[in-house]
Amino acid sequence: MKLSTPEFRAMQSLPRKLGQRFFEMPVFRQMGLDLKNKDVLEIGCGSGYGAYLLNQLNPKSYTGLDVMEEQIALAKKQYPQFQFIVQGAEDLSQFADASRDAVIIFGVLHHIPDWRKTIDEITRVLKPHGNLFLEEPRGVDIKIFDAFFRWGHPDTDFGLQAMESHLSTRGLVIQSKQWTPLLTMYHASKITGN
Ligand SMILES: C[S@@+](CC[C@H](N)C(=O)[O-])C[C@H]1O[C@@H](n2cnc3c(N)ncnc32)[C@H](O)[C@@H]1O
Repeated sequence: MKLSTPEFRAMQSLPRKLGQRFFEMPVFRQMGLDLKNKDVLEIGCGSGYGAYLLNQLNPKSYTGLDVMEEQIALAKKQYPQFQFIVQGAEDLSQFADASRDAVIIFGVLHHIPDWRKTIDEITRVLKPHGNLFLEEPRGVDIKIFDAFFRWGHPDTDFGLQAMESHLSTRGLVIQSKQWTPLLTMYHASKITGN
């Protein structure tokens, strides 16, 4: 779903970029993020700062998608060298089965009412033994964002426990999980050939 105006603004802010660069990326790297010569898909890429950071890891290919035209317009303007598309993550049909080595998500599933379908699609496009790196807030974190910053998150049934069990039913095995203030970070691998 589209972001509220306050959250949209916050996602373009310097603190957001600093957090992504100096905190979230290093934690993903500690968890094993290695994109050298990999085909990478970023879900909910926003205005593209994640693309900038991920492309420093020398992937073979990178595509960032986001449902908001405004975000993709900003991403294309700021980083014309990278590939961005306007696309909802619930339908990845333009990506072939087993075509991606890695899928990256910086805080997006909690915005998608049909987040389970999104996980199903991610599983389909990941190669066997491909890796998913994702971070999402807990329910209490979402309440904090909404109370303090009036971000107005959508009312969905997303939760970390429900997400973890859906990952496991799809053969995405959690290799590591790290709680951090406001975000919980995961590395999961596609163990089955599904
Ligand atoms: C909290 S923002 C995070 C943006 C960026 N990943 C970051 O970390 O700064 C969530 C992003 O998910 C996008 N989004 C929401 N629903 C989506 C969907 N169904 N498919 C793809 N992207 C979606 C929003 O437009 C927004 O850019």
